[in-house]
Amino acid sequence: MTESRRRAFVAANWKMHGTRRMVLDYASDWPETTPQVDIVLCPPWGYLGHVRSVFDGKDIRFGVQHTEIEPHGAFTGEHAAEMARDLGAEFAIVGHSERRRLFGETDEVVAGKFAAALRAGLTPILCVGETLDERRQGAAETVVATQLDAIIDQCGASMLTDCVIAYEPVWAIGTGETATPAEAQEMHAAIRAKLVRQGVAQAEGVRIVYGGSVKVANAPELFAEPDIDGALVGGASLDAVEFAEICCAAA
Ligand code: PGA
Repeated sequence: MTESRRRAFVAANWKMHGTRRMVLDYASDWPETTPQVDIVLCPPWGYLGHVRSVFDGKDIRFGVQHTEIEPHGAFTGEHAAEMARDLGAEFAIVGHSERRRLFGETDEVVAGKFAAALRAGLTPILCVGETLDERRQGAAETVVATQLDAIIDQCGASMLTDCVIAYEPVWAIGTGETATPAEAQEMHAAIRAKLVRQGVAQAEGVRIVYGGSVKVANAPELFAEPDIDGALVGGASLDAVEFAEICCAAA
């Protein structure tokens, strides 16, 4: 399969932002014609139902930003992947660097959440990426390979066929710093080569998207790279017009 047969994928990670009013304004700013790419909105959990009903009838799908591993139980304050599915989500962000760094999610925990998402019928959006120190030490590819190995060890390589991988260099998230298109392409190609080496079925068809300070201004040159199949957008996804333009750039 050639890269031209991978449908572009653009997801909005609203992080811990939003109000009911913001959702209504977002929907009224959204263009009449939705761009022809897979578009996923990942609002905070509490707004999922509201966002779904406000966007009803639009060609947009929904995801959550994190889930717990267990399907139910005494885990005060937590949400299961099964609950996300029950609420109409189709995707779950897994292993975002903020979850790894601020909430202590290890590679093993991330693999558990990846498995939980699949079990519940959600498509994981698996985030991988290196810190600035790791990049300076020349370890970027090794770090990302280790993050992927944790999934392969716990879930099996075949499970990577059914996910979207988001390469998000930690130093580019929310900083205004973006990897150059060439730097990002190099890592995306390395990730795809690893999927092929691991015998992942249809490795050429797995979408690998870029995340880290994606904006209208830098999206077209990133999307022009052959292995960059879209984006996971944080800050810029809070503005409906800008996010829709990024989606258009991916189309
Ligand atoms: P950013 O966030 O676009 O604000 O850098 C991306 C992300 O964290 O997924």
